[in-house]
Parts: sequence; structure tokens; C-alpha cells
Amino acid sequence: MRGLADKVVIVAGGASGIGAATAHRLAEEGATVLVGDVNAAGAAQVAGSIRESGGQAAAHTFDIADDDSCAALIAAALDSFGGVDGLFNVAADLSRNTLGRDTDLVGVPLDVWRRSLEVNLTGYFLTARHAVPAMLARGGGAIVNTISGLVLHGDRSRVAYGSSKSGVVALSKHIATRWGKENIRCNVVAPGMVMTDNNKAMNSEEYRKTVFEMLRSPRFGKPEDIAAAVTFLLSEDGEWINGQVLPVNGGTGLR
Ligand SMILES: NC(=O)c1ccc[n+]([C@@H]2O[C@H](COP(=O)([O-])OP(=O)(O)OC[C@H]3O[C@@H](n4cnc5c(N)ncnc54)[C@H](O)[C@@H]3O)[C@@H](O)[C@H]2O)c1
Repeated sequence: MRGLADKVVIVAGGASGIGAATAHRLAEEGATVLVGDVNAAGAAQVAGSIRESGGQAAAHTFDIADDDSCAALIAAALDSFGGVDGLFNVAADLSRNTLGRDTDLVGVPLDVWRRSLEVNLTGYFLTARHAVPAMLARGGGAIVNTISGLVLHGDRSRVAYGSSKSGVVALSKHIATRWGKENIRCNVVAPGMVMTDNNKAMNSEEYRKTVFEMLRSPRFGKPEDIAAAVTFLLSEDGEWINGQVLPVNGGTGLR
């Protein structure tokens, strides 16, 4: 893909799953990658493995729910690599304590609602808020934010998760509209069911069967499927795509 060589891209949530696959793919395309995550060991492992393969990467431990920590993530890219050209927001609180207790409107505990918004929505707001001035200083940049297919199709459960991800769409369209003329693009990727360790841990076999029936593809998603789409959106090949939501879901819903 064009235009990623020598670009600096932050993957916010890059220690595992889709974020880790995207960090690898970005590095393969020549980008320098800062792998940020609350999981310090995972981030270090991903950055180390990119370097072993001949790519350029560093790890940075941060908490996307904390403003100072998000500011420090962007500062680390400036200090280590001299700037920021791309940001992939992919972190989410998918833990048993949060996603695992996320039920419906009437039943969801208030702390689950608040935590979901804090990490999955406010976190993206914070990283982008600190990254945009740094991108403007370089003459522009690209952001990709991660939502979920359930935002597009609805769900009987996970009201907090879905609402937090829906907010990310409005946030992304705001960024695209406010700074598009200054050469900043902000798009959204909406993965369908992707077989990450977390997905396997959090979804029952019965739920997976139901989703599989809705697929046109003969298989579930791989992290690399999302990595390819995100890398495209961050590259110059995606330079006329702004403010869009791209479903990457094996044809789960046709729009
Ligand atoms: N896997 C799927 O089927 C699927 C489907 C739709 C959407 N998604 C979305 O894709 C993204 C990645 O999911 P995944 O399946 O790869 O899961 P994952 O658990 O492998 O990745 C999430 C990453 O976010 C990090 N993280 C969590 N809280 C954080 C915090 N406070 N600060 C910094 N980092 C934090 C985790 O440590 C982890 O590395 C999520 O946003 C998820 O909602 C996944």
C-alpha cells in the first residue's frame, strides 16, 4: 500500500488480537509503529516481534481511560519517532467484569455503563484529541476508530458496549468534518465476528452459530482481515475516504 513507509502510526490497544495483527501489518508496509496498551508485557512482545522481523516498533504502556496517560502516549511517539501520522484506536474493555456483565437497558449495572463509555468512547476521544494537534504539525494524518458490527445490526444485549461504540461513529464524523480540509481523515472500521482469543472467551458456541448463519463468507474473520482494511484506510491508497464506516464482516449485513 502506498504512503506508509516512514510514517509513524500509534496502535492504541495493540497488545493482542486485531490491534496486534494491525501493528504487524503496518510495520510490513514500512510504517514505524508505537504499540500502546495497558498490557505492558503484550505490547512489548508485539513490538519485539516486529523488530525481530526487521520492522520498526516500540512499546508504550498506557491506560486509554486516563487523560494524562493518553497525552503521554502521543508524547512518546513525538519523543521516540519525531511525530505522529496515524492513529488506530482499537482498545476496548472486553473483560468479564465489564462486557461480561453488560446486559440490557433495564438490567445493566450502572458501573458497567460508565466503564464502557469511559474506555470505549472517552478513551478514543482522548487519544484523538492529543493526536490531532501533532498530526496538524506534520501537515495532516489519518485516524481509524474501531466499533462493532452490532452497532449496525442491533443486539438484544450489551447495551453499554453498543452505545459506547455508537458514540465513536459520531466522534469520528466530527473529526473528519472539522479537520478534513486540513488533511486529517478519520474513518471507522466495524468488524464482524473475528476469532481473537477474547472473542473465543466471551462468546458462547451457540451465539457464534447464530452469527455464522448471517455470514455470506464461508468462514469467520481473522485479525488479519481487519488489519488489511485498517492499513488501507491509514495509507495513501485510502486518501479520498473520510468520515466513513467500513464494515469488515464477511457479508453479515448487506447495505
Ligand atoms: N473480535 C471480534 O470479533 C470483534 C468484533 C467487533 C468489534 N471488535 C472490536 O475490536 C477491538 C479489538 O478486539 P479484540 O477481539 O482484538 O480484543 P483484544 O482483547 O485482543 O484487544 C483489546 C486490547 O485493548 C486493550 N485494552 C483494554 N483496556 C485498555 C485500556 N484501558 N487502555 C489501553 N488498552 C486497553 C487490551 O489489553 C487488548 O490488548 C475492540 O475494540 C472490539 O470491541 C472485535
